[in-house]
Amino acid sequence: MSTARMHIRPFRIGDEATLYRLHHDSIHRVAARDYTPEQILAWAPARQDPGAWAIKMRHLRPFVLEIDGVIAGYADVQAHGYIDHFFVSADFPRRGVGRLLMERIHEEAAHRGLAELTADVSKTAQPFFARFGFETVEQRFPVRAGVTIPNALMRKDLACGVRQV
Ligand SMILES: CC(C)(COP(=O)(O)OP(=O)(O)OC[C@H]1O[C@@H](n2cnc3c(N)ncnc32)[C@H](O)[C@@H]1OP(=O)(O)O)[C@@H](O)C(=O)NCCC(=O)NCCS
Repeated sequence: MSTARMHIRPFRIGDEATLYRLHHDSIHRVAARDYTPEQILAWAPARQDPGAWAIKMRHLRPFVLEIDGVIAGYADVQAHGYIDHFFVSADFPRRGVGRLLMERIHEEAAHRGLAELTADVSKTAQPFFARFGFETVEQRFPVRAGVTIPNALMRKDLACGVRQV
């Protein structure tokens, strides 16, 4: 797909419900290949408090990628370079959506003079983050709703200037 049709904009109030569905679908349809059904349900339960989700999104203020006006992915970068959410729609896999969001995060990091980018990365996304120069710091075993959902802390050093992704 041509990236010319893709457009990244800031989060807007009103995006919350669409981002919720995208997050839920991405986990249930994409990450599901690397986790058990029990882990997927603990990570993205069928029912989540919409108020708490909205507060979280308003706090994260992610970049939102649209394709012809349809939201196809979102990702954030927080004050010290921590990426909390990074999700591409299950309807638009492997079409460069993740790449554009990652490039936008690097631009933002350069703009803010960040020394590093870090993230707790799912098994599904680890090859993607490695593709953009992130290295695994440690394997982690967070527990949600009583279920262990393994991920890895990954880090990219930007101290010598932000390299091209
Ligand atoms: C991981 C994810 C963000 C990738 O997004 P995407 O839009 O499919 O990735 P892109 O098409 O932009 O790929 C960019 C590059 O990464 C590579 N890549 C993407 N996914 C990959 C994978 N699973 N394994 C190996 N390489 C991968 C692509 O081949 C491409 O490489 P290239 O530049 O050499 O052609 C997406 O699959 C996703 O949202 N996964 C589920 C949710 C999740 O686990 N999120 C992370 C929570 S931390």
